[in-house]
Amino acid sequence: MQHGKFITLEGGEGVGKSTNLRFITDWMRSRDIEFIQTREPGGTPLAEQLRTLLLEKREESVDPTAELLMVFAARAQHLAEVIRPALARGAWVICDRFTDATYAYQGGGRSLDLSLIAQLEETVQGELRPDRILLLDLDPETGLARAATTGAADRFESEKLDFFHKVRNAYLARAAAAPARYAVVDAARPLNEVQQQLAAELESLL
Ligand SMILES: Nc1ncnc2c1ncn2[C@@H]1O[C@H](COP(=O)(O)OP(=O)(O)OP(=O)(O)O)[C@@H](O)[C@H]1O
Ligand SMILES: [Mg+2]
Repeated sequence: MQHGKFITLEGGEGVGKSTNLRFITDWMRSRDIEFIQTREPGGTPLAEQLRTLLLEKREESVDPTAELLMVFAARAQHLAEVIRPALARGAWVICDRFTDATYAYQGGGRSLDLSLIAQLEETVQGELRPDRILLLDLDPETGLARAATTGAADRFESEKLDFFHKVRNAYLARAAAAPARYAVVDAARPLNEVQQQLAAELESLL
């Protein structure tokens, strides 16, 4: 079946995902590509409620497995309601974070068993994987400093620096293990250079 391209934008806090999402959607409009723009966790009313539950700071400590299952609950809903229907009608999907973020945050950051994540990925996604993963890579110190300018810290942003180093390393390990699927972009460079590379990656999908 002919279907649209599924592109995900990944990276830690403040690497420039939201900023570059706007660049990517402008690029798609300029090419007359039908697309939807969405994000994880979230993307449907139910999944956005789960996002709120995941991001809220709370007194109770959150069990990592509970966190993982909420992430995949939101993803199952998002796939069923939004992502699969869009791809099936030929639209491209650009998503701000997806399953690589689960490997990075819950696998790397929370040290959950990667094979458990892989099992849930298989159950929830079946064969579906992104066609291209745009990984914005940046040292966490710089990323957190950038993110600090955009509102109060959420439950993840309140983690210690060590957590974000583990997140970054897990992302880079994923990209190194399957380089054909990933574009690793050095997000420390000026925005126009980052976007030149992103445009070249997008062109290669046409
Ligand atoms: N290449 C860049 N150089 C300098 N500043 C940048 C660059 N890319 C983005 N920024 C700035 O960094 C800040 C964070 O960017 P943005 O919100 O896009 O990141 P994000 O990855 O979406 O963050 P979050 O993880 O919080 O969602 C913004 O103020 C943005 O203008
Ligand atoms: Mg963002």
